[in-house]
Formats: sequence, structure tokens, C-alpha cells
Amino acid sequence: MVRRKPLVVVTRKLPESVETRMRELFDAKLNVDDTPMDQAALVEAVKTADVLVPTVTDRIDSAVLSQAGENLRLIASFSNGVDHIDVSTALARGITVTNTPGVLTEDTADLTMGLILAVPRRIAEGAQVMTNEGEDWQGWSPTWMLGRRIWGKRLGIIGMGRIGQAVARRAKAFGLQIHYHNRHRLPHGVEETLDATYWDSLDQMLARMDIISVNCPHTPATFHLLSARRLKLLKPEAYVVNTARGEVIDESALARLLESGDIAGAGLDVFEQEPAVNPKLVRLARQGKVVLLPHLGSATLEGRVDMGEKVIVNIKTFMDGHRPPDRVLPAML
Ligand code: DGY
Repeated sequence: MVRRKPLVVVTRKLPESVETRMRELFDAKLNVDDTPMDQAALVEAVKTADVLVPTVTDRIDSAVLSQAGENLRLIASFSNGVDHIDVSTALARGITVTNTPGVLTEDTADLTMGLILAVPRRIAEGAQVMTNEGEDWQGWSPTWMLGRRIWGKRLGIIGMGRIGQAVARRAKAFGLQIHYHNRHRLPHGVEETLDATYWDSLDQMLARMDIISVNCPHTPATFHLLSARRLKLLKPEAYVVNTARGEVIDESALARLLESGDIAGAGLDVFEQEPAVNPKLVRLARQGKVVLLPHLGSATLEGRVDMGEKVIVNIKTFMDGHRPPDRVLPAML
């Protein structure tokens, strides 16, 4: 009997080389014009697919999953985060879920470091001055456009997993003192290598940091971890950087505190209602208090190809009857 190739439905356009390989290996239904799929289209996809390859812009909730056909055994997400998938419902229905950890760590850490530098050193603001045909620039001045020094400041990392540690390695080289809050304390050797100080109490860490970097996943436990109350603990000179998920910060409270000058600035690559951005934040960005980026953390060609290759390995392994390497387990949620 000839085994048919699995029907793999991919929700967004992927890099060329990844799509080519998928066409070779699977009966791949690709989204060549990259039109995001709405909930109705996702329902249609899960009714027939053997494997669904969604990404962070899709919402694979219980309503979608309840319509899944019997063939759907694997959701191989093209993403590190899985907060767009109702993983518990999927697992309860016997659907395996995989993600793409590891391959976007360095790219995301680079972008985080970029924001850590960009906000206190006013890099985006300065670049804006120069694109106004040089009209805003009257030449060097001892007191014009002064930012704040990075070297010697305290960086508080929330979430010291792969990405948090990669940020710490970079930040250490920039002379930042590394502090962190995490569900579990890191092994002594890792703390020593990173010169990292562990804070069991997030509140206490927040009150003492110059820069906060959010690097934890969005889970029910981390939703609004930086609540209005916690954001108020920050020093007025502090900066907040978020390249993880918008939902970890109470975005309205952050915007209010930035507006009132109770927080000095923010660098944000992710937003609570993506792709919508709080208009207050946009206003603050125009005033140079905030740097906003359109979820670029993993946006390198190399990173996206690596993510695609991980998706393929996960599907292949699963289809060959083995456990895929990047299974999402309930303990990770
Ligand atoms: C992910 O994969 O979770 C990232 O947010 C995409 O950049």
C-alpha cells in the first residue's frame, strides 16, 4: 500500500527554501500570498489537515480546535511562543503541539540589546532628526540631546531562560550589572558566569533597577506580571524593554506612567493587542520617549529559515512515528 503524503496546511508565507522543502516532503497547502487566515479559514483548515502549521498571528482557540477533523494529529507551530494556541485543549484532544525553540534566541537577544541601547541613548530620536533633511540639526552642542549612560547601570531581566541569558551575556559586555527574576533560580555556575544576582521578589528587584527587560513567555501566570502596581515600583529614571509578549505588561498603565514621567522610557517590540498599538504609545514615540518596533525579535532570514527547518523536522519525526523533538508539554505552560 502506498502511504499518502500528509496534508500540511501552512497559515502564512514562509521563506522560499522552507516552502520548497515542504512541497517535496508533504502534500503542502501553502499561503503564497500571505493573507492572514481568519477564524473561519482556520476552522476549514483544521477540518481537513493532518498537520497544521500556524504562527503567532493565528488564534488556535478551543472554538477552532472543537471543529478539528480526526486527521489532525499535530500542530507544528512556526514560533517559539505558543500563547496563540489553546495547548491544553489540543493535548486533551490527542493533538501533539510543537514549537521552534532555540533558533531565535540570539536574534531576539540582539534586538533586545538594540532597544536597551536605543532608548537611553536616544538613537531612534537622533536618526529622526537627521532624516528631516538635516533641518533640525544645528550642529554638535555640549548640552543637546543628552541621553543616559548604559555602562554601570542595573539591568533587571524578567525570565532567565534561553533568551534572558543571551541578553545577559550581551549586556554584561556593555558593562551592565545583571539582575534577574525567574521561576527557578539558575545553577550557581551559570549565575557566576553571567555575574547575575537573583531576586526572589520581583517587587524588590523592580524598585532597584535602571532598566527592565521582559524575556519571559506569556502564560496565565505572567499575564500583566508588570501590573500597574508593579510598574509604579519602578524608579522615575527607569526604562522598560519588552521583546517577549505585550500581554506581560499592563500596556495602558505603562503608557500612563510614561506620560506622567513616572517611568523614563520604553522600548517595545510587542504589544497587547497586536497589530494594534496603543495610540498613547505612538504619541510618546513621536516625542522620543518610546521606541516602537513591529515584532521584529526573530526577523532575520537565517532565523526564519531555521524556524522552518525545525517545523519540518518536527513534522517528519512525528509522521515517522517518533516523538518530535520540540513537543510542548503541559509543564511548560
Ligand atoms: C515567536 O516565535 O514566538 C516570536 O515571537 C516570533 O518573533
